Amino acid sequence: MITTVATTPFDGQKPGTSGLRKKVRVFQQPDYAENFIQSVFDVAERPAGSTLVIGGDGRFYNRTVIERAIQMAAANGYARVLVGQGGILSTPAASHVIRKYGASGGLILSASHNPGGPDEDFGIKYNIANGGPAPEAVTEAIYARTRTIDRWMMVEGEAVDLDRIGTSQIGAMVVEVIDSVADYADLMEELFDFPAIRAAAAQGLSIAFDAMHAVTGPYAHEILERRLGFAAGTVHNGTPLEDFGGHHPDPNLVHAKVLYDLMMSPDAPALGAASDGDGDRNLIIGKGVFITPSDSLAMLAANAHLAPAYAGGLKGIARSMPTSTAADKVAAALGIPAWETPTGWKFFGTLLDAGKATICGEESAGTGSDHVREKDGLWAVLLWLNILAVTGKSVMQIAKEHWARFGRNYYARHDYEAIETAKANTLMAGLEASLPALPGQSFGPLTVAAADQFAYVDPVDGSESRNQGVRVMFACGSRIVFRLSGTGTEGATLRVYLERYERPEGRLAEETPAMLADLIAAAEAIAGIAAHTGRTAPDVVT
Ligand code: G1P
Ligand code: ZN
Repeated sequence: MITTVATTPFDGQKPGTSGLRKKVRVFQQPDYAENFIQSVFDVAERPAGSTLVIGGDGRFYNRTVIERAIQMAAANGYARVLVGQGGILSTPAASHVIRKYGASGGLILSASHNPGGPDEDFGIKYNIANGGPAPEAVTEAIYARTRTIDRWMMVEGEAVDLDRIGTSQIGAMVVEVIDSVADYADLMEELFDFPAIRAAAAQGLSIAFDAMHAVTGPYAHEILERRLGFAAGTVHNGTPLEDFGGHHPDPNLVHAKVLYDLMMSPDAPALGAASDGDGDRNLIIGKGVFITPSDSLAMLAANAHLAPAYAGGLKGIARSMPTSTAADKVAAALGIPAWETPTGWKFFGTLLDAGKATICGEESAGTGSDHVREKDGLWAVLLWLNILAVTGKSVMQIAKEHWARFGRNYYARHDYEAIETAKANTLMAGLEASLPALPGQSFGPLTVAAADQFAYVDPVDGSESRNQGVRVMFACGSRIVFRLSGTGTEGATLRVYLERYERPEGRLAEETPAMLADLIAAAEAIAGIAAHTGRTAPDVVT
């Protein structure tokens, strides 16, 4: 029996860079999650008999929302729901399951790398039938619906046992609790040279993988330790916890410091890697060398042909605008297109669907390919392992050879977190107003060649996205990008992206902070960060 519950709209249910993210307390208000999910169901394209995939990263409140979403899907005419065992599906695994089983879409419950727990963050994201995040037209429609919603619907029934694999029925809808890991692990085995990696592992290739008490634990145990034969204990922090053990499940040098320290020690394995809350990000550290995500994208693209899935070559490489231009140089060498999109994985979907790009990446530790429509943390780790296994080289060797061939893009991102929203907006407005006067101005040794507010026209569907970040390009090829985060849940986060290019004959073996010092000073002079925000140093440098 369908129960219809009267409701009134909440303000601020606008999906950001990656779905609706708020504090758990916000989601716990009566009707809050329900309004958003009902709005998704009200606007989503879902033919009769559709299947919906539901899964999350296991954080606090995951099960509550999953149980409610299943009841609501039953009332909204879905024929079938596929849900990961225990409510667990990593974001890339969810993308794969949507594609593999022909679902019309999926709900992914996650706040990615943000902390979890009763006082921390939660999120709901809707992905469409191609397995990728809903494009802006859809998220706008969902948001518009949240502004007028007056009812949500559910079928009350026996609670589904999320822990037991199997099929049950709620109303007219079938609920299948599926193995969260198997489909995804099988896909990885198709893409990569598992026999070569297994053989290398047997001969001493080693990896430390930090699952950060988040969703990739079960995936990494199965793939790295069981299928590839890496030693037991290869996976660190492999049990998903509702609060990620009290840490930020954010695979960067701040939150994965233990791994970083291990990788800089004499006992380091060949590869150190980590993934985030929902398993779509990756951190790559070689013995004695941190590989920036922008460089990892470029190095993976340059060597992808060593993995069976990409042996036939790449169709193109796409990167988000703030990501360094290292990948563009690889694309040029391969004679394939390089695409520059706004921030957020949703902008890669059309390029992947149209066969214009095979590999995509973002500076924020996101890399992936056309095997799914999300970034994929373990995918990047496995491609690195595949390359190390086949070449027999170290990460350091691969990096040095890459820089010697393509030059090196020194890169860092400075984040100023939880700034008062009004102050952040004033800073960005000031920056925008200063754009026309910037070209020709000098800041220390740097002279501005061009400056603009990045706008994007999707080459496949023609959709336009404006205000995607302020770019200041210097005559020497260096660059600063300023933008406000679209995923924060507290005030505003200013991101400042700094990039300096050195040619192959230039200085390739320097320390990044020193190489970026002039750019850091220029960023302050251009944007007046201290004056606007009172902050004299970033909260996080990645
Ligand atoms: C951040 C990253 C962006 C990524 C997104 C979702 O978004 O910068 O690259 O796609 O998280 O993981 P932002 O907070 O900058 O809007
Ligand atoms: Zn994530």
